[in-house]
Amino acid sequence: MTDEALDLGSTPASVDDLDALLEFVKAERGFDFTDYKRATLGRRVAKRMQATATDSYIDYAEYLSSHPDEFIELFNTILINVTTFFRDPPAWEYLGAEIVPRLLEQRNDAAPIRVWSAGCATGEEAYSLAILLCEAMGDEEFRDRVKIYATDLDDDALTVGRQAVYARKQLSELAGELRERYFEEVPDGRFAFRSNLRRSVIFGKHDLIQDPPISRIDLLAARNTLMYFGADAQARVLGHFHFALNPDGFLFLGRSEMLLTRSRLFVPVELKRRVFAKVPITSIRERLHEMVQAGEGVPLPQRIPEDTLLRHATLESAPVAQIVVDRSGVLALANAQARKLFSLAPADIGRPLQDLELSYRPVELRSQIEVVQSQHHPVIVREVEWAFGGELRWFDVQVSALVGTDGMTIGAGITFNDVTRFRMLRDSVEHSKESLETAYEELQSTAEELETTNEELQSTNEELETTNEEIQSTNEELETMNEELQSTNEELETMNDELHQRTDELNQINAFLESILGSLRHAVVVLDRELRVQAWNEHATDMWGLRAEEVEGEHFLNLDIGLPVEHIAVMLRGCLANQGNGSIELDATNRRGRAIRCVVSCSPLYGAGEDVRGVIVQMEEHEAGEK
Ligand SMILES: C[S@@+](CC[C@H](N)C(=O)[O-])C[C@H]1O[C@@H](n2cnc3c(N)ncnc32)[C@H](O)[C@@H]1O
Repeated sequence: MTDEALDLGSTPASVDDLDALLEFVKAERGFDFTDYKRATLGRRVAKRMQATATDSYIDYAEYLSSHPDEFIELFNTILINVTTFFRDPPAWEYLGAEIVPRLLEQRNDAAPIRVWSAGCATGEEAYSLAILLCEAMGDEEFRDRVKIYATDLDDDALTVGRQAVYARKQLSELAGELRERYFEEVPDGRFAFRSNLRRSVIFGKHDLIQDPPISRIDLLAARNTLMYFGADAQARVLGHFHFALNPDGFLFLGRSEMLLTRSRLFVPVELKRRVFAKVPITSIRERLHEMVQAGEGVPLPQRIPEDTLLRHATLESAPVAQIVVDRSGVLALANAQARKLFSLAPADIGRPLQDLELSYRPVELRSQIEVVQSQHHPVIVREVEWAFGGELRWFDVQVSALVGTDGMTIGAGITFNDVTRFRMLRDSVEHSKESLETAYEELQSTAEELETTNEELQSTNEELETTNEEIQSTNEELETMNEELQSTNEELETMNDELHQRTDELNQINAFLESILGSLRHAVVVLDRELRVQAWNEHATDMWGLRAEEVEGEHFLNLDIGLPVEHIAVMLRGCLANQGNGSIELDATNRRGRAIRCVVSCSPLYGAGEDVRGVIVQMEEHEAGEK
């Protein structure tokens, strides 16, 4: 941005664009700078435009939309927070030497002293006032009697003020002994205003242009703040200051704030030091003149009785918007707040209410007025919503009948009480409550889920414990079984060894038996008690052509051999009956088909003792004809 752009007179951006920008800021963030001096505003905004490399107010508005953090930078630039302790020392010396003693003299010993530092920035001015009064009154009396209200529009500045901690450099304007007496060094090397005195300084957000003033003030310091406002706003704020001050209160302004020389609400006590006293209102006519001069637009009749003016003035300075409609439905009066709220021009006073937008917006008034006039009791329409200047506001609208001395209704008074803050607070409380409830429900359900999960976990744990125990016992059983198996195995191995040994022995015996049977000269067959073949030697095979494995287990008398076995059955049974040995000679046919004479002899086979276990049959071959 060029130097030219910083000069509002030659800036390429038009003033209309600046108005649009201010409206935009107001709609977006609720900060209304439209009453500030255009030249100052233009320079401050230009500074931000330079920093953000934007060339026009419109571009800058777009930049604000897309970079919301820039609002903070803009407000910090517009709301210049420059301040120091005892800024402009000669003025403070005068205040301490002349004004504070007068103030204390005017008050009786116990009366509270109320001080207002309006536009206090980061609090140095408020603490300077505290030091001045504390020096004059002593700590105890100061704590008991003094309240200093420190207000500003800038939240960040107020936060610094509330903390009351300053760097050594910021205290450079303070005499050494004052710093010693009123500040304590804190660990980070900075200095905190003494906490027992700090409690008498109350910080709060307050818009000098929009908000109603603090009342019953004895000393009002509004230094280097009014100078940022346009003439209309300055006049309005001065009206508020006049209302705020006690009759013998003092107003303390900044060095360059000269406007008061033209105001009839205050007279200089010491102009050079910018200390002013309130002019008591002797004539209401003058007061109304003052209002008109301040642009408050009340048309003054030429001769007004004093009490009428008094009522008029009371109505005029009321902090809520009020209008009066006469019996014929004509708007008779509208106070300053109402004129501002409904943009009423002086010419609107005296017009029929029905011709004004006010009659139906924000609420339909004529029907309410009719109800009030016929029923003679007030009607309140609560929380009427109104989109005003791009923002939503809520009003409690009260309509009351105005009754004359003769008891007749002479009109209706309507007040519009702005309850936006209350409504927003309530909404936000409700919203918080809802969020809290939701959070609570979620918490509860989470807690329940947790409980269920916990129970499930517990039962799973129990199951696991049981399973574990089962596994352990199974394991133990397996271990036992294993050991048993091992011992059985060992036993089996022993038995196996024994069996092996027996088998070997049996094999040996068998071999021995076979060799005996084989060594015999004749065919030998051993039968059991059922006459089944138990042993069959080689000679028997030779003789009858059947091998041992073919006949073993077979009934001897059923064998298909060349021996007529039916002739020896009796002999065999005789043997089995232990009737002794037998022998018989028979004709037979050997395996080669040759007819032979066969001598068959049998003897009983004894088991343990005299038991006959079977029969031993011996067959001896003779050639046919051989004896
Ligand atoms: C330059 S400082 C003055 C500080 C102190 N009074 C002094 O003289 O050292 C101006 C202060 O006025 C505040 N200010 C600007 N507009 C205001 C408004 N409408 N209502 C209240 N304070 C406002 C600014 O935020 C800033 O902190």
